[in-house]
Amino acid sequence: MSDSLSRSADSPISRRELLEAGAAVLGVGTLACAPHGAAGSVPSPQLGQGPLVSRPMEEVRIGFVGVGGQGTSHVRNLVTMPGVRIAAVCDIIESHAQRAAQIIVGGGHPAPRLYTRGPTDFMRLCEAEELDLVFNATPWEWHVPICVAAMRNDKHAATEVPAAVTLEECWQLVEESERYQKHCVMMENCNYDRMELMVLNMVRQGVFGEILHAEGGYLHDLRAVKFSSESEGLWRRAHSSRRNGNLYPTHGLGPVSNCLNINRGDRFDYIVSMSGPSRGLAQWARDHFPEDAPERRETFVLGDVNFSLIKTVNGRTIVVGHDTNLPRPYSRIHQVQGTRGLFQGYPSRVYVEGRSPAHQWESPEAYRPEFEHPLWKFEAAQKATVGHGGMDYLEDYRLIKCLREGLPTDMTVYDAAALSAVTALSEWSVANKSRPADFPDFTRGRWSTTPPWAIVSA
Ligand SMILES: NC(=O)c1ccc[n+]([C@@H]2O[C@H](COP(=O)([O-])OP(=O)(O)OC[C@H]3O[C@@H](n4cnc5c(N)ncnc54)[C@H](O)[C@@H]3O)[C@@H](O)[C@H]2O)c1
Repeated sequence: MSDSLSRSADSPISRRELLEAGAAVLGVGTLACAPHGAAGSVPSPQLGQGPLVSRPMEEVRIGFVGVGGQGTSHVRNLVTMPGVRIAAVCDIIESHAQRAAQIIVGGGHPAPRLYTRGPTDFMRLCEAEELDLVFNATPWEWHVPICVAAMRNDKHAATEVPAAVTLEECWQLVEESERYQKHCVMMENCNYDRMELMVLNMVRQGVFGEILHAEGGYLHDLRAVKFSSESEGLWRRAHSSRRNGNLYPTHGLGPVSNCLNINRGDRFDYIVSMSGPSRGLAQWARDHFPEDAPERRETFVLGDVNFSLIKTVNGRTIVVGHDTNLPRPYSRIHQVQGTRGLFQGYPSRVYVEGRSPAHQWESPEAYRPEFEHPLWKFEAAQKATVGHGGMDYLEDYRLIKCLREGLPTDMTVYDAAALSAVTALSEWSVANKSRPADFPDFTRGRWSTTPPWAIVSA
């Protein structure tokens, strides 16, 4: 572990130490665009104003970077939406770009221009193309370089999750978005899942009283995916070799953060994090590869089970789990608890004092007629079959609608930064006997005046 980590174990953590720690642990510092100035030094044109809005546009011209599994899903959704043109596609694997082009042409659109000259060809796309939005679904370490290139070239940015890997990268997104007045949206699809949105609607209508506690996580057996010879197997396992913490927090944390109005009346204050032993991936390699396979000689540092606790500045608590190396059924935990009752996911159940039978869970279906979120009354979402059902459709639909109509985006760059910061901060806490690590206030105080995400409709 780096010097800065061991030194800071005895003293309150500084932002600089965190940045150095993140870069040292990851070894990806050189991938990010050069930082410019300390965070907070950049004058923010958004200061004192409401959420960022941009001029409305009839058509959203998109450059798509990274069309593997998840990127292709987005492309399939986007080509069905009015007012969308995917004008350019970039991927380091030419056949992936060509597959996306076929989907685009098959959707009745002109063929996109392809950018397939290697890992930094997205720069050429951002510089050469007249686009409104650069959307990327690349491996994690490319998210920030691509978003920054987009914004510096006068394009909005949308990125898959997590938006950033280090704290420095989180600040970069915020600073570039503010400097260039460009949206930078982290595409957290679980924010739009049917149960998550119904629970948000119930929270807003006061069903659970004052919300005091929430839990979320990403508990998904990814062993086969991480050892695959394609797609995420090409890059995701490497993070488990170098990093120990909560590496993928946003699917669980996004929806419950909306219930707690994070960055809109409350914000993350500090985190403590703990990882257990790392056994699952090495065991999988022994079980699935021959004696002489290089995979059997790989070593891993990512604790199979990580749990982190976040305290908000309003004193509320959030548990966030990460568990991707062990045999288990899928869960995002999804719990929201208040003074009048709670929702608990996996399996979904509700208890509301005075409404549910005393001390007994109820099915959430009993609440659906009254509390279904307006977005899920949208027929196109209910029919969507691509990419995790309707939730991916809805997140893409909402992004396009907000851009076309010049509305604030549902999620902002501050959400991207705060939720993604969990990765670096949890790594630091794990490496330092679970000591608390402070979240930066990426909003620079505006969390207290920004209104909650409205219960929006299609
Ligand atoms: N929201 C979700 O439910 C969800 C699901 C899966 C993946 N994801 C996220 O989507 C992203 C991509 O994951 P995936 O499963 O599609 O992985 P993948 O490996 O299938 O796809 C990544 C694609 O990016 C391309 N690529 C890699 N480096 C590139 C570069 N420098 N420039 C251009 N293209 C590049 C690869 O060739 C590949 O086609 C990740 O951030 C992941 O966390 C999100």
